[in-house]
Amino acid sequence: MSIHVVSASERRAKIRAHAASLGIDEAYIARLVDTFYTRIRAHDVLGPIFQEVIGDNWDPHLSKMKDFWASVALNSGQYSGKPVPAHQKLTHVQRAHFQTWLALFRQTLEDTAPSNEAVDYFMERAERIAESLQLAMFGTPGLPGYRP
Ligand code: HEM
Repeated sequence: MSIHVVSASERRAKIRAHAASLGIDEAYIARLVDTFYTRIRAHDVLGPIFQEVIGDNWDPHLSKMKDFWASVALNSGQYSGKPVPAHQKLTHVQRAHFQTWLALFRQTLEDTAPSNEAVDYFMERAERIAESLQLAMFGTPGLPGYRP
């Protein structure tokens, strides 16, 4: 019996090849992020929440978000930020805002994605991350501090 140990770079290459087969690469991620945050900024509810924190400083946020999505979707390892504290300090954000965020993200994907599989690929990941951010922000049912 032989055991094949998969190196980090082999694993990364596999993920990247699979994503590429769905039409997902850095160029698409840049387009997705630019389009999504253009819509976020124009959104009547979400726009002001972002504006308050980011102000006129959108370029660093957009490049951070491109690194983030390349890490999530392509396993690029480019992003090394801390999403949980970044959202925990947004004390007026509620669960309903996450539903709005996810709906806008889905609509952006449906308008721009290279394939239906690419829509699902991003949505699965966005929903999972949104779930864990909400656990961190609003707590766990049955534990102290839980906000339904
Ligand atoms: C209601 C929903 C959301 C709101 C209002 C929101 C708002 C924000 C704001 C204002 C920032 C900037 C924070 C700062 O620079 O100090 C931020 C950063 C960020 N957001 Fe969100 N966000 C939401 C949902 C999400 C979701 C669902 C994801 C991932 C799928 C996400 C990923 C990130 C990441 C990666 C950062 C950068 C954190 C860092 O490294 O500094 N956000 N968000």
